[in-house]
Amino acid sequence: MVVSSQDARFKAGDEVLVTGYEMGVAHDGGFAEYARVPADWVVPLPQGLTLFEAMALGTAGFTAALAIHRLEQNELTPDKGKVIVTGATGGVGSLAIQMLSGLGYHVVALTGKDGEHDYLKSLGAGEILPRGEIDLHGTRPLEKAQWAGALDAVGGDTLAWLTRTMQQNGVIASFGNAGGVELHTTVFPFILRGVRLIGVDSAATAMPLRREIWRRLASSIGTGLRPRQLAQVAHTVPFAELPQAFLRLLQGHARGRTVVGIKPAS
Ligand SMILES: NC(=O)c1ccc[n+]([C@@H]2O[C@H](COP(=O)([O-])OP(=O)(O)OC[C@H]3O[C@@H](n4cnc5c(N)ncnc54)[C@H](OP(=O)(O)O)[C@@H]3O)[C@@H](O)[C@H]2O)c1
Repeated sequence: MVVSSQDARFKAGDEVLVTGYEMGVAHDGGFAEYARVPADWVVPLPQGLTLFEAMALGTAGFTAALAIHRLEQNELTPDKGKVIVTGATGGVGSLAIQMLSGLGYHVVALTGKDGEHDYLKSLGAGEILPRGEIDLHGTRPLEKAQWAGALDAVGGDTLAWLTRTMQQNGVIASFGNAGGVELHTTVFPFILRGVRLIGVDSAATAMPLRREIWRRLASSIGTGLRPRQLAQVAHTVPFAELPQAFLRLLQGHARGRTVVGIKPAS
């Protein structure tokens, strides 16, 4: 909510959101109750979203939607085949599964958490692929072609395995490095199967596309990407309990999205 503005585009009382621009990373204020930010970073809250829902989506929801948008720009449609989501129980993964299944895709959720299969199915995953069941260290440059599309939160050996297992003309959106930053693959997926590897950088997305993606996130009609079960994915932690929440993340026990309650409970 805008308290005051020196920019004519915004006025006190407007509901707005900011993600990216290294907010809370290179710039302090990610957990502040009040923050002064450049007007060029600010997106008016799209109709159909509450402020809570906007932050339950947050950078993760925006990144999932942007990655799907990029796959669509590369001709991915539900009739082309299965779409695999890696890091499936994470914030981006949980939201991407709902968005893709809402658009009619057959979604395969790749996860390391054996106890979360029912959760992933409830979000709309058509199949669960346990991480322990795949050979991430195969040496053949091409393996059985399985995926028309892929959203990759993990990077490293998982991304290399994706390049080897994409269908002809398959498209991978790479946005994460939860499992590693190096990529050891060959050119064969690209020159023999026409595989495309698309990079996704949510932080620097230009404002016109940024607004378009948020408009899609707020709508469940047509090409809308609004997740059906946002409440199921997001839980709130009080500011004072952030250290424990970070520990769960680092230990690999976290699931879905965490919204921080900045104000102390009154
Ligand atoms: N490019 C961008 O603009 C952008 C924007 C947002 C986030 N990101 C990046 O995208 C990634 C996902 O973000 P997030 O918010 O979804 O993170 P998150 O909530 O921490 O989820 C990451 C998921 O990855 C899987 N994972 C974690 N460690 C792993 C490992 N060592 N090997 C394989 N899988 C592992 C886990 O899922 P399972 O247990 O289900 O396998 C985990 O839930 C992060 O690397 C983040 O930095 C990038």
